[in-house]
Amino acid sequence: DETKAGIKGLVDSGIVNIPKMFIRPAQELAEELVNPCQKNTEVPTIDLSNIEEASRRKQIVDQVRVASEEWGFFQVINHGIPLSVLDEMIDGVKKFNEQNLELKKEIYSRDPKMKVKFNSNYDLYTSHTADWRDTLTLSFLDSDPDYNEMPEVCRKPAMDYIKCMKKLGVTLFELLSEALGLQPDHLGSLGCTRGCSIVCHYYPACPQPELTLGVRKHADAGILTLLLQNEISGLQVLREGQWFDVQPIRGALVVNIGDLLQMISNDKFKSVKHRALATPVGPRISVPCFFSGHATLLDHPFGPIKELTSEANPPRYKEAVLKEYIAKFLSGALDKKAPIDYYK
Ligand code: SIN
Ligand code: FE2
Repeated sequence: DETKAGIKGLVDSGIVNIPKMFIRPAQELAEELVNPCQKNTEVPTIDLSNIEEASRRKQIVDQVRVASEEWGFFQVINHGIPLSVLDEMIDGVKKFNEQNLELKKEIYSRDPKMKVKFNSNYDLYTSHTADWRDTLTLSFLDSDPDYNEMPEVCRKPAMDYIKCMKKLGVTLFELLSEALGLQPDHLGSLGCTRGCSIVCHYYPACPQPELTLGVRKHADAGILTLLLQNEISGLQVLREGQWFDVQPIRGALVVNIGDLLQMISNDKFKSVKHRALATPVGPRISVPCFFSGHATLLDHPFGPIKELTSEANPPRYKEAVLKEYIAKFLSGALDKKAPIDYYK
């Protein structure tokens, strides 16, 4: 029952030293936390204003191409989503986590089939070390979100946020299609824009942030991720062996390429490893929205887009049936294999 109070419950109990299960192996920490960041370059920020003008659109598509090839990450500003929707989402996550514990416990679950659930570390019982965060998952891959299914304290903000993310997703998939040299609707026609889940991360202030991580190093397994973060930095991207901060910009959204998009783009776009630090001040809040493909896609083989391969540039991945891949991924059967290697 104690675990149901999450990381926040631990912090509220007044701990000074973090429990052993959160302490990452010294070797990994040496590699991951000491490597200094050369700040002579940074994660690109792309301004989407006046996107309807043909010459601006061309510039934006070029920027999206370069960022997706070189970083796998970029931030977008002037994307048209009202600041109030973003602020209210952050506030909703805060309210959810800071409400009466009994209400959080009601939806505490580790069942992958549950669309709406709260837990701390989805892999708590299978991974070696736990991460320093609590998570509310709102997953709507094969249905539209239902107002009544949402936790009461953040119902309206979550509904509004999902709606806006889906709209921005349509724009981004058009830009990404064009950046790949395809028709604007190409990725959309594959089902990329349909179905999304949002994951609300709450990272309480950590008394020993240098010993643990908010989210350990990983690449996103889906197609595309859009992420909102509050004003506390912590997200870092790995590039050429260096960690780069993705500095919070008020009103911006972070966009990153997932493994599936790397795969269907035949490695033109990169799914890049990233992590979130545990922070001495908090809570840090982030709300990634994952586009992972609609349920109707699941039975179809998914592989490098034909138009992007040729005799000189043969497909680097075999076709895979998404459903089988996801089942293996969820059951842990991919073992230590990186998700992207599953398709090789
Ligand atoms: C994630 O990549 O899973 C979350 C990153 C963040 O909290 O910024
Ligand atoms: Fe991620």
